[in-house]
Amino acid sequence: MTKDTIYKNPQAPSDFTFNSRVAEVFDDMLQRSVPCYHQVIDMVATLLGRFTVKGEKVYDLGCSTGTTILELSRRMAGREIEFIGIDNSPAMIDKAILKAEMLAGKNSIRFLNGDISTVELEPCAACILNYTLQFIRPMVRQSFLTRLYETLKPGGVLIISEKIIFHDLQINRAFIDFYHEFKKNQGYTETEIARKRAALENILIPFSIRENSELLQNAGFNHVETFFQWYNFASFLALKD
Ligand SMILES: C[S@@+](CC[C@H](N)C(=O)[O-])C[C@H]1O[C@@H](n2cnc3c(N)ncnc32)[C@H](O)[C@@H]1O
Repeated sequence: MTKDTIYKNPQAPSDFTFNSRVAEVFDDMLQRSVPCYHQVIDMVATLLGRFTVKGEKVYDLGCSTGTTILELSRRMAGREIEFIGIDNSPAMIDKAILKAEMLAGKNSIRFLNGDISTVELEPCAACILNYTLQFIRPMVRQSFLTRLYETLKPGGVLIISEKIIFHDLQINRAFIDFYHEFKKNQGYTETEIARKRAALENILIPFSIRENSELLQNAGFNHVETFFQWYNFASFLALKD
């Protein structure tokens, strides 16, 4: 796995994009930047085990290099799930296809290059949106989630993981500090952390737990709960009746 040293460089792009340079180091970047990344995938596998049946279709929207799908496919061998990963970064999709070729399993896996906010989706049992809704423009988040609700079959599930904010300023500050401490413990320097934070300003726009829950309820989901939280990261489960 290539180590993420992008923000060691003072010439690193001032606006964060999912380009080929990022795709190259992305697996390392995610593991060192998303607390409990693998535990969340593990929980998603358990949820899919409960809420999907053999032969159903599952989308991973904003699938990046395919880590989640490949791990789910390994965990759910024998379920004959049809996994489809979509991402609008061609470099991420190229990497996902390469990784899938090396790890062929029993489930069908496809990766497509496309914009998840506009691409046509087929009726499915589950959609996963891990750490991706935060990159969709706030103005279109409601209509996007409503479309996902409509795409899900009855009994379908939407699983979302996000960085979150808190409207209580003291708690928000404390949780951001804990997160920066986590990144330092993962080997990032204070300068790297500060540069990446500046590059993500106005690109990664987090909502609170309540704001995300309201979006899901307004989209039509009657059952919405968080199933995981680590300070300023949370995962949501939304069920369609
Ligand atoms: C933080 S990464 C997601 C990580 C991935 N879900 C995982 O858990 O390993 C966000 C991904 O969303 C993709 N993305 C952002 N906006 C998108 C859009 N409108 N359509 C498709 N993909 C998008 C980016 O290219 C990037 O790969």
